[in-house]
Amino acid sequence: MKQMINIALPKGRLGEKVYSILEASGFECPSIREQNRKLIFENEEKGVRYFWVKPSDVVIYVERGAADIGIAGKDIILEYSPDIYELADLGIGKCRMAVAAKKDFCDRRDGVLRVATKFPNIARNYYNSQSRDIDIIKLNGSIEIAPILGLSDVIVDIVETGKTLYENNLEPKQDIVDISAILIANKVSYKFKNAEINGICEAVRKNLNL
Ligand code: PRP
Repeated sequence: MKQMINIALPKGRLGEKVYSILEASGFECPSIREQNRKLIFENEEKGVRYFWVKPSDVVIYVERGAADIGIAGKDIILEYSPDIYELADLGIGKCRMAVAAKKDFCDRRDGVLRVATKFPNIARNYYNSQSRDIDIIKLNGSIEIAPILGLSDVIVDIVETGKTLYENNLEPKQDIVDISAILIANKVSYKFKNAEINGICEAVRKNLNL
C-alpha cells in the first residue's frame, strides 16, 4: 500500500505558489482550495496530506518528523540549522538577507554596533566573520523602524523589492546571502518513504525545469 506523505506548507503567498506547483505536478488536493479555516487537507488516492503552518515552523515539523517534507525559506534554514535534508532549491520566493541602515549611516567600527533583527544567528555569524563586535536586538517584525527611532544602528533583514527600505529612508549597505524556497525532508522519512518522496521531488523538479 502507498504510504501517505505529510507535507508542511508555509502559510501565505509563498505557500500558495508552492501548492500550485505541487498541484500542477500531479499531487492535487482540491479541498485545499475551499474557503474555510481548516489547516489539514488530504488526498488519499495521491498519497498526500498537506497542512498549513507558520513559515518559520516548517523546519520544526520536518525536523521532528511530524511532516515528511516541507517547503522552507533558506533564511529559516540558516537561522535554525535544523537537522534535515535539503532536496531541491525551488528557485522561487527569491530575496536576499542584507544589512541596512539610514542613508547617512557609516560604520566607523569604533564601539559596539547595535543590530536589530528577526535573525539573530544569521546576524551573529555574519558579524563574527567580519570580527565586528555587535549587540543583537531581537525583534519580531517591522524591523525597519529600529534605526529610525534610534533603537539600533543597523538592521539585518530580508530585502525583496527594496520598497520597504526605500519608503522608510533606509538603504541596503551589505548583502549577506541570497534566499529562496527549499524543498526539505525529514531524514528518517527520506529513508523509509524514499520512493514516495523522490516521486514528489522529481515531479516538482520536472514541473519547474530544474
Ligand atoms: C519582510 C521584511 C521586510 C519586507 C521586505 O517583511 O522583513 O520588511 O518583507 O520586502 P520589500 O523589500 O519587498 O519591501 P514581512 O512582510 O515578512 O513582515 P514583517 O514586518 O513581519 O517582518
